[in-house]
Amino acid sequence: MKVIAPNRVDREFYRYQKEYEMKTLQVLRSGCYVLGKEVFSFEEEFANYIGSKYCVGLASGLDALWIAFRILGIGEGDEVIVQGNTYIASVMGITINGATPVFVEPDEFYNIDSAKIEEKITDKTKAILVVHLYGQASDMKKIMGIAKKHNLRVVEDCAQSHGASCYGNKTGTWGDIGCFSFYPTKNLGAYGDAGAIVTNDESIARDVRVFRNYGSEERYHNKVVGANSRLDEIQAGLLRVKLSHIDLINNERTLLAQKYLCKLKNPRIILPIVRKNVDSVWHQFVIRCKDRAELIRYLDKKKIGTIIHYPIPPHLSEAYRYLCVSKGTLPITEQYANEVLSLPMYSGMTDEEQGYVIDMINEF
Ligand SMILES: Cc1ncc(COP(=O)(O)O)c(C=O)c1O
Repeated sequence: MKVIAPNRVDREFYRYQKEYEMKTLQVLRSGCYVLGKEVFSFEEEFANYIGSKYCVGLASGLDALWIAFRILGIGEGDEVIVQGNTYIASVMGITINGATPVFVEPDEFYNIDSAKIEEKITDKTKAILVVHLYGQASDMKKIMGIAKKHNLRVVEDCAQSHGASCYGNKTGTWGDIGCFSFYPTKNLGAYGDAGAIVTNDESIARDVRVFRNYGSEERYHNKVVGANSRLDEIQAGLLRVKLSHIDLINNERTLLAQKYLCKLKNPRIILPIVRKNVDSVWHQFVIRCKDRAELIRYLDKKKIGTIIHYPIPPHLSEAYRYLCVSKGTLPITEQYANEVLSLPMYSGMTDEEQGYVIDMINEF
């Protein structure tokens, strides 16, 4: 068996190679490379797919997050509730604007524990940032109820949950703003950096559209100090190609996850579980193991690559030392950081590859 990498984005490229190459040439020959037909068409198609009224393409998922909070007017002196076990970009989306993240422990599904949100609400709390981690939608009915009761905004970090839903409604459609990343390894990944926001609020969509383009709607007439965060034509075109295959790609991941769930049998390993009335698009297949270092070394010898999402929780990172959230404050978050491990999972993974990973883990 050859080396099995944790991810193989090239497999999906080769499956639709002709379509990608034709689209790239078409854009290159068009003479329009920024904010043209491909971007506007992608925005419309992605909004349709998610079930949102508006989509605005941006340069990255991090931009989607910080621009979302900027447009909502959440910054200095405000607090935003977020789960402790997320990728650091979620937290940066809050702090870039000067707001303070308030960490809540995750539940057994690795998403924010909705039962622990209310105890963290203060008179400074302005929003909840919900991260649909590893592809599984969070407990949105409960979270929206809490937000309504306390008059809080809800921003969804959907960087890992393209197409996942809760009670049949896709992630990104529940809160005020849904933020997406199209980083190449995402379920809907571009071939470079890209991101977007979705919203049902026309004025938010308009503000983001203005903000991403130096704060101008009309050339040289700048309304606000904005940013340059435009989705480019090539990425938008390639995303349109991938979007037309996204259900197949997500189904394929689901089948891989089902096989892992059914065939992995090792008492040293904890398998992921999915909440009732929610689904997962299996951005990652994350197991837990108390002897993680030993497992990684063992899999390494068997030529199986794995990744830890994420070994250092944001509150313990050097970047957030200034928040003074000490070690031990978030025991579940910290336990997960010490035990989680993502197994190889990608569109185009063969039966043989997955079978080998399963056999090796069962032998561990
Ligand atoms: C949960 C989460 N939020 C935000 C981001 C940031 O996205 P990007 O890398 O496109 O800036 C990522 C992706 O890396 C992510 O996984």
